Amino acid sequence: MLIQIVSKPSSKSNIEVLFYFKQALVFPTASPLNEAEQGALQSILRKTGDGPHGTGPYGDSDWAEINGRLFVLLDAGKEKYLSRSENLRCAAYRLTKLAIRRQFTNLSINVSEASSDDCAAILAGLHYGEYRFDSYKSNPKKIHEYQVELMGGDRTDALKLLARQVDAVMSQVSIARNLVNEPGSSLTTSDLVAQAVVLGKAHGLKVSVRNAAQLEKEGFQGLISVGKGSPNPPAMVTLSYKPKKFRNSVHLGLLGKGLTFDTGGISLKPATDMWEMKMDMGGAAAALAGICAIASLGLPIQVTAVLCIAENRPSGRAQLPGDIFTAKNGKTVMVDNTDAEGRLVLTDGLWEAGAQGVTHLVDLATLTGAVIRALGSSVAGLFTNSLAMGELVLESGRACGEKYWPLPLEMEYFEGLQDKVADLKNVSGEVGAITAALFLQEFVPAGVAWSHLDIAGTAFVKKQWKYIEHGGTGFGVQTLVEIAKRLADPSRHLPLAPPTAPSAKTPNAKASEAPRRGRPPKARPAQQAAPSTLKRRGRPRKVLAPAVVTPIEKPRRGRPPKALSKAQPNKAQPKVAPNTTAPRRRGRPPKNSPRT
Ligand code: BES
Ligand code: ZN
Ligand code: ZN
Repeated sequence: MLIQIVSKPSSKSNIEVLFYFKQALVFPTASPLNEAEQGALQSILRKTGDGPHGTGPYGDSDWAEINGRLFVLLDAGKEKYLSRSENLRCAAYRLTKLAIRRQFTNLSINVSEASSDDCAAILAGLHYGEYRFDSYKSNPKKIHEYQVELMGGDRTDALKLLARQVDAVMSQVSIARNLVNEPGSSLTTSDLVAQAVVLGKAHGLKVSVRNAAQLEKEGFQGLISVGKGSPNPPAMVTLSYKPKKFRNSVHLGLLGKGLTFDTGGISLKPATDMWEMKMDMGGAAAALAGICAIASLGLPIQVTAVLCIAENRPSGRAQLPGDIFTAKNGKTVMVDNTDAEGRLVLTDGLWEAGAQGVTHLVDLATLTGAVIRALGSSVAGLFTNSLAMGELVLESGRACGEKYWPLPLEMEYFEGLQDKVADLKNVSGEVGAITAALFLQEFVPAGVAWSHLDIAGTAFVKKQWKYIEHGGTGFGVQTLVEIAKRLADPSRHLPLAPPTAPSAKTPNAKASEAPRRGRPPKARPAQQAAPSTLKRRGRPRKVLAPAVVTPIEKPRRGRPPKALSKAQPNKAQPKVAPNTTAPRRRGRPPKNSPRT
């Protein structure tokens, strides 16, 4: 398909596309109709508008001839629960299918009176209609060449610019979809790294790659632990976009979960539908495509994307349930379930984003099956430590048809992530999407306004959804562009970070190790590098021993902490903040201290 932006119909165009909604045209015809023609069109629209959509003689996606002029009629209100823009995207998408089915060669749409949102929606719908992933078909469907003219009238120049912008973003959406659709063995960790390097460089980004050896050396144990069962080693890719002029006060971070395949590891997933886990890098694909789209639009904002890339496989080298590793911020994590691997690799990404100096951070991750049970495949879960940032995400999603629903970072559930041996464990028995987000929150750098988008349900569809047949959706790419547009706008207030970062409120966090804004990763002294899991095993017993071998009932050694000696737990309760648990032995502060 060739999209042409013209001011008035060219001699080539022979079929005019008309969008209708409830018996009325959404945009006028290119040239006025006389009274008789108008009457003929009205009677057709009355038939199309009555009864179930698409069943009348001139139902949706059909065509009509009036006085020798050919029209295609498309219902722009067919999806009754979707917005106007989404309906226009759907209708434009259906137009592409119709053009192929009917072998149309020249179509025209009069958008001279359409808003720029309407034009953008039609353009996006046409792009969605063009997408195909058929390189694995031995006999792919023949491509039908046709042309769609968009008539801009007086606003043709503005429309040309808009068409270029939509094209830039939609090309990236298609790239994200391609990456997600590629089988796990065809897009291994090194393939994804290579794609990120090529795409990043093509968009003028600074790209740096940490391979497994570098990750190990620098103590990025989340990626190392998850990736160690696989012959395809983990990696971290950092891409930076710094235009000549940008809004000084903001540095947007995009963080993506990039599991090129997730078997579950030793906590192996069931065979049914496991193939879908080739999509577990949908977050990384969206972050990569998002930063490339932002760069090709030349938005005046500094952006850094961090991709945490690994493959989760069982093998003789794989991490075991019960293993403990030390994350970059010093917190120790017991791997209760190796299938909850996304949050482990993201601990490293969150650290890196902080070290890069981001002020606002959006992570995208196909993180939990629980979010699919809660929100299905049309809505992604949104968690945030800044209400204003959450609002920004919702508004940005609305602007591009990507839906989010806010879920709480409810600290009452934090207890489920506490481990007897390590600071945290990676799963809790309940409320899967929330506890996954609570886990991530423990690693969010201080002073950063953060939103976590759980896109497990929306990144991949198995059946037709809106303007996507099946497979990768590219979900999130357009939201990221919309967020960047808004954050770049100097007239808008920036969302603030919460007054205190959660990590600072966790007693076991080594505050000195939390990443500081603007601090480059190299500045971290070598001796602070977190030891590997292996080294951790050799840690002096005395550190682990009391917690492991001292039975709870045994009399406590030394002086009990004040809170304990004061009163019986029950009596003390009313004075204790709801989120506190019993103080730990030996005077250490309680693990789950009150968080505000
Ligand atoms: N990649 C999955 C989440 C997922 C599930 C994405 C279905 C897309 C579709 C993630 O790594 C995972 O396995 N999560 C587990 C966590 C559980 C073990 C606590 C889940 O949600 O089942
Ligand atoms: Zn998993
Ligand atoms: Zn996963």
